[in-house]
Amino acid sequence: MDRTIFLIGFMGAGKSSAAQALSERTGFPVIEMDAEIAEQEGMSIPEIFEKKGEPYFRGLETKLLESFTAAAPSIVSCGGGAAMREENVAAMHRGGVTVLLEASPEAILERVKDNDDRPLLKGRKNVSDIRALMDQRYPKYLAAADIRIDTSELTISEVCDEIIRKIEAQQNIK
Ligand code: S3P
Repeated sequence: MDRTIFLIGFMGAGKSSAAQALSERTGFPVIEMDAEIAEQEGMSIPEIFEKKGEPYFRGLETKLLESFTAAAPSIVSCGGGAAMREENVAAMHRGGVTVLLEASPEAILERVKDNDDRPLLKGRKNVSDIRALMDQRYPKYLAAADIRIDTSELTISEVCDEIIRKIEAQQNIK
């Protein structure tokens, strides 16, 4: 494996945990998009949303993704909205392979319920609101994904095995 892996999917789908595990397996560094943006701006993600607004944040995501196109292979844990813009997905495909991590709204709720770092889930931490936002986003997630993995019933290590197996299988086909 020699290409950057972009982990995409809904908030709480397990992108950050899978990125850490994949980094240990591949030796590639992890880039956590939200952490990069927060550091760059000197503000937390909720603060950026509050003070500068969501469109400003989305612009930062696009700029950051474009900077990875020519970078050394890495594991990029993308923000949950990063696959919503076509230019972002094009940048991911220029830079490497996209892996969609999937989980049920129930599993997502379990994983996000005690965390307040996600402005889009403020006041929406219930299965029906999560399902509604997820349904709205799914066509774009599916269009962006080279590979799909359902994480609901898997351990992180199994998720990692599946990702590597599917990427290698795809490379063998090409
Ligand atoms: C967002 C997901 C978050 C973060 C921001 C917006 C989204 O990242 O980028 O709160 O639009 O889905 P995670 O998916 O890592 O929680």
